Amino acid sequence: MENKWQSWMPDKKQDFQTNFIEWYEKEKRNLPWRINLDPYRIWISEIMLQQTRVDTVIDYYYRFMKWFPTIQALAEAPDDKLLKAWEGLGYYSRARNLKIAAQQIMMEFNGQMPQTIEEIRQLKGIGPYTAGAIGSIAFQLPEPAIDGNVMRVVSRLFEINADIAKASSRKIFDKAMRAIIDEERPGDFNQAMMDLGSSICTPTSPKCEECPISGYCESYEQGTMTNYPVKSKKLKPKDVYYIGTIIENANQEYLLEQREENGLLANMWLFPITEVGKKEFEQIKTEWSGTENNQQISLELEQPLLVAEELPGTSVLENHDQVVWQKRSLGEVTHIFSHLKWHILVFYGRSVGIAENKRNQTWASTTQFSKLVFPKPQQKMVELLEKVQYLNKHLRE
Ligand code: ADE
Repeated sequence: MENKWQSWMPDKKQDFQTNFIEWYEKEKRNLPWRINLDPYRIWISEIMLQQTRVDTVIDYYYRFMKWFPTIQALAEAPDDKLLKAWEGLGYYSRARNLKIAAQQIMMEFNGQMPQTIEEIRQLKGIGPYTAGAIGSIAFQLPEPAIDGNVMRVVSRLFEINADIAKASSRKIFDKAMRAIIDEERPGDFNQAMMDLGSSICTPTSPKCEECPISGYCESYEQGTMTNYPVKSKKLKPKDVYYIGTIIENANQEYLLEQREENGLLANMWLFPITEVGKKEFEQIKTEWSGTENNQQISLELEQPLLVAEELPGTSVLENHDQVVWQKRSLGEVTHIFSHLKWHILVFYGRSVGIAENKRNQTWASTTQFSKLVFPKPQQKMVELLEKVQYLNKHLRE
């Protein structure tokens, strides 16, 4: 029988809730979005926490609240400052959607956070989980907030066999949660679920001896905890290959290219990257790895150089024949987005003469880097460059 929650008598449900909420009161983590019930603060925290761990979120959260303390401040936020606040958190569409939603609140809801689930759901970037979290925590609506942690806890509690990777399973967890949620304290109940999922009811070795609700847990009774949740394998992220080109000019500035307005990493800045096929990538990687007579990592121009035409991706400047390239790659940078894995083989070149840039390009010194929004793969390329520069300096000394 899948829906074991239906067999809980009212007394059992009451005891369960009392135990669980008491545990939460005692053990709850001190988190900056738990200091009051300001719906704006709760909304921002839930968006940040969607794909990011609590420990990482905390510093970002403080800074975000300082920079954008009100819905109005967020609605009027300059785009570059907003993305700067999000830099490094990933999934940048979350930040863009936040601003759009803040503008919606200013225009459609009189500047006040809407208070019903239906209205909260109308805001850009808010799905069922986030609406449930905001509604229950800020407005005490008896709504579940179902994320991966909660599905793990609930699937163990009732030995639910539904595949959590399937969207259609959601309604089963929704039903189970509605059957057990504390209607007087839904926000605390939901947050108790979240805390339990992250500290005790963990994926591989749950600490059932410390669990306040193990006495109600079907899988604990059966010893089947780690069979839950049932989850079908996720598809491997798709590999994509790039040649990355770091070009420095005579003023010690680097060429950067801005991404298009839409799509992955929209509007952010990177050293130019050019997509190549897997075979070509492997070939270039082997050929230019510097394992033969040019072992030493150096940015000096006396090193063997190659001309632009020999390497795909190096004609990034209008007058690309003005660039001399180091004849080995600086190394490979990889980065996983949710569905893609980027491999960037990085090359270094110096532009000689007067290099003109294209419309979406700019030259920037490293001191100016902090003013531009860099996504993670770009930060990794900068780190690689810094490492090589450091080695160079110390090898020469
Ligand atoms: N994860 C998502 N929302 C959370 C919250 N409000 N507290 C702790 N962890 C969370």
